[in-house]
Amino acid sequence: MSYAFDNDEFSHYYDRFVVEHVPRDIFWTDTVKDVYAEIIRQTFIDNQQTTVVELGCGTGENLLELQNYFPNKNLKFIGIDHSQAMLNRAKEKLNNKIELLHGSLTDFAQCLQTKPVDCILLPAGTFHHLITDHERQDLVNNIQQTLRHETGLFAIYLFADSLIRTEAIESATNTEDKFKLISVENTQENDNEWICKQIFEFNVPPKIQLSWQLRTCSIVKLIRLFISNNFEILFCCVNGKELLPYNENISYSLTNNSTPVIIVFRTRKNTN
Ligand SMILES: C[S@@+](CC[C@H](N)C(=O)[O-])C[C@H]1O[C@@H](n2cnc3c(N)ncnc32)[C@H](O)[C@@H]1O
Repeated sequence: MSYAFDNDEFSHYYDRFVVEHVPRDIFWTDTVKDVYAEIIRQTFIDNQQTTVVELGCGTGENLLELQNYFPNKNLKFIGIDHSQAMLNRAKEKLNNKIELLHGSLTDFAQCLQTKPVDCILLPAGTFHHLITDHERQDLVNNIQQTLRHETGLFAIYLFADSLIRTEAIESATNTEDKFKLISVENTQENDNEWICKQIFEFNVPPKIQLSWQLRTCSIVKLIRLFISNNFEILFCCVNGKELLPYNENISYSLTNNSTPVIIVFRTRKNTN
């Protein structure tokens, strides 16, 4: 079974899927255009260049949208991905103002020359690629090493826990022309770990079967991880439209929402 994102054919297919599907999806469109822009705006410091990093940038569609959103701002965008196939596709479509780096969620501090950065975005469908506590701790450490303390923001886009236990295979028929869901397997490893493995068949030459793993860590556990590493939650988005100041009442929505959520963290103080 191939790892989806290492496949050149798949990167082109994925890119077309994102370009065609995302503008039709209200949650995504609003999120990328407005909510992400608002998160970035919150990190502006007068008369300074703002550096924004997208981890798991894929084929670069989000970066392109965000760059277009701020045509006259002194912003530097950097995309990081560990798949050369995805980066190759991103290079074909992005202008050279967006820097693309080959690196992992677990070691990206090494490849970033520009430090500290003001905003780190972890987009949809990316955090769940980290499947061990060790990898998740490495991600946190790398954010600590690169994010501007006090003013820098880290935003993560997640599927609410209630969305992870996906429907049974009969009702989960995806009829995208090149995209067929073959199986879904939900496993609860313990109270905090849900694994949803989905296997798709892509009718992209060469015909390939790809496996996806959804959430491996609950939102509650993720929040605990960041808080214990000296981060605090500042904002969240639970409706795809607005960025709300975080308060305890919202925490219920974070795990029980019927749409994905975005949580925005800041580091409390310099712990280096
Ligand atoms: C669902 S795609 C998101 C792509 C893009 N940001 C978007 O929203 O369309 C997830 C991306 O994360 C990348 N990725 C997965 N695990 C990674 C890791 N450990 N380090 C760096 N990139 C990773 C994949 O190669 C893929 O491009």
